[in-house]
Amino acid sequence: MDKNIIAEAAKIINEGGLVAFPTETVYGLGANALNPEAVAQIFLEKERPSFDPLIVHIADVNDIRPLVKEFDPRIEILAKHFWPGPLTIVVPKSDLVPDIVSSGLPTIALRMPNNKIALSLIKESACPIAAPSANKFGMLSPTSADHVRKQLKNVKCVIDGGETTIGIESTVIALHSKGFQVLRPGIITKSEIEKYIPYFEVEIENLPEMASPGLMKSHYSPNKPLFISLGYPENIDISKAARLSFSGIYSDGYKIIEHLSKNKNLKEAAVNLFKALHKLEESDVECIIVEPLPEEGIGIAIMDRLKKAAYRFTIDNFYKSI
Ligand code: TXA
Ligand code: MG
Repeated sequence: MDKNIIAEAAKIINEGGLVAFPTETVYGLGANALNPEAVAQIFLEKERPSFDPLIVHIADVNDIRPLVKEFDPRIEILAKHFWPGPLTIVVPKSDLVPDIVSSGLPTIALRMPNNKIALSLIKESACPIAAPSANKFGMLSPTSADHVRKQLKNVKCVIDGGETTIGIESTVIALHSKGFQVLRPGIITKSEIEKYIPYFEVEIENLPEMASPGLMKSHYSPNKPLFISLGYPENIDISKAARLSFSGIYSDGYKIIEHLSKNKNLKEAAVNLFKALHKLEESDVECIIVEPLPEEGIGIAIMDRLKKAAYRFTIDNFYKSI
């Protein structure tokens, strides 16, 4: 890790600028969380609607106290087991946190990323860093510096930390008095968290969609139609289509085949998910047909991303557009 690059990037953050940096999950687009003008730049650059709040990244549990209304002891328990790591915790915020960060919600989403560059950047900047994934709103999340540059052409400072090691965004949970709720599934599963703090069942379907915009049905889309299907949908010419495979079993005749994991390992599939989708989005296929993965453990998080990617495409719309 180059200390000069970190120092330069921290200077940009302190001057109210934007820095794209690696985390263990996906690349983030960061700004000083306590500077509302700087945070506004993130929304502009990402073309992100103002109703979608940002995760605030910290490097030390003690950094949290000024940001929260009161310190929930469950944060300490979760921090001990899961931080630094891909878990984001939503709790009531203090007045210090600008409303633009939380999109007007009375809460703040907190995360300590498990990546040396990210942690050094936060420490060197000496401020909490608000950072959504470094992609255009609704598009594929970036797992490499090249993915960031492809979508966010105006961001001058992109710290290249190689490919991310987890590949999908953090698990987002909210802490309520009766227990926690999962707002976005991730690599850290509900049952792992439940070992340490109680869970309170609220069906995601019963939460208002805007309780967390991570609950939106459409998100994370490639720029080509994507369908989830065990076989291939009737009437699709698979010689012009790509297959994204998990089991390694697929029909002959696809133009391109990408494998999520050669050993049917869900962790490996998560690491490769966005990388494979970026590659297929750049290829000359007409559509991407994804094999459904088992919806258990990490498979829940991967299928969550895939269903959101597929949501805006129906076969009917596809035929209208070609
Ligand atoms: O792994 C990650 O979480 C990455 C890296 C960069 O840390 N970040 C990320 O940020 O995925 P973003 O903005 O793409 O997703 C943040 C999610 C959104 O679904 C947002 O709605 C939710 O967290 N969120 C943020 N603040 C919230 C809050 N106060 N209440 C409820 N949901 C919140
Ligand atoms: Mg995102």
